[in-house]
Amino acid sequence: MKDLIHRAAGDLVRSTNAVALTGAGISVESGIPPFRGKGGLWERFDPMEYAHIDAFMKNPAKVWDVLIKEMKGIIDNARPNNAHKGLAKLEKLGILKTIITQNVDGLHQMAGNTDVIEFHGNFAWQRCMECNNRCETKKIDIGQIPPRCECGGIYKPECIFFGEMIPPQYLRRSEMAALACDTILVIGTSAGVQPAATIPLIAKQAGAKVIEINLERTPLSKESSDYIILGKAGEVLKTLTTEIERLLNI
Ligand code: OAD
Repeated sequence: MKDLIHRAAGDLVRSTNAVALTGAGISVESGIPPFRGKGGLWERFDPMEYAHIDAFMKNPAKVWDVLIKEMKGIIDNARPNNAHKGLAKLEKLGILKTIITQNVDGLHQMAGNTDVIEFHGNFAWQRCMECNNRCETKKIDIGQIPPRCECGGIYKPECIFFGEMIPPQYLRRSEMAALACDTILVIGTSAGVQPAATIPLIAKQAGAKVIEINLERTPLSKESSDYIILGKAGEVLKTLTTEIERLLNI
């Protein structure tokens, strides 16, 4: 693994426009469970019953009570781990330009990254379904479920539910970033949910190097990754940034 990390460090030092695509795995070391695999949310909750927009519209109280309340408890208290901090360092060093994240936890921004495309929206804000008033999730009173705005309307997190469209401007910006980058780090994603999973393929077809960091191999590893570093994102990013700083004599 060390050899691959050193190879990735060399690639990144030579890069002039690196991009990262991140998924739930990057936040696991911050205490946020992933969606798939062991301990994943979809092991306990059927996404079609709790994460589909039709399910939310039909019975917002049920979705709030079971899934959103739990997510709020976890995300409100989560802090960036070494993987988020490592990506923030790569931006400071002028290597990483943009993060495209499927996560809604806001941890990249909390770590210090300034150009983050939140592909699946964010959990930091809620929007009233009646009057469009926005309220910070941290300030939402979950004493009553579903939480309501002063106007009586129900709050919905600003996340993209299954069955909802990715905002076209996020999709366009992500595709532009993928087309323009020379290196893409793909970290902690099962690379199976579209359209996010096509981002590394777009980058690859445009000539970028694809470096994957994950606990296990994914469909992307076989198709497009130039190499995969198997390990925990926080540990890998810590070693990777240390090696980059050594190469840059920092
Ligand atoms: P998944 O839960 O599908 O995949 C998480 C990935 O992270 C897996 O490939 C794990 O092997 C890997 N992983 C777990 N722990 C890790 C660690 N400590 N270090 C490195 N890798 C680790 O999450 P996503 O790919 O992000 O969409 O899922 C994509 C989308 O599916 C989500 O945004 C969500 C979900 O349904 C919506 O809700 C619309």
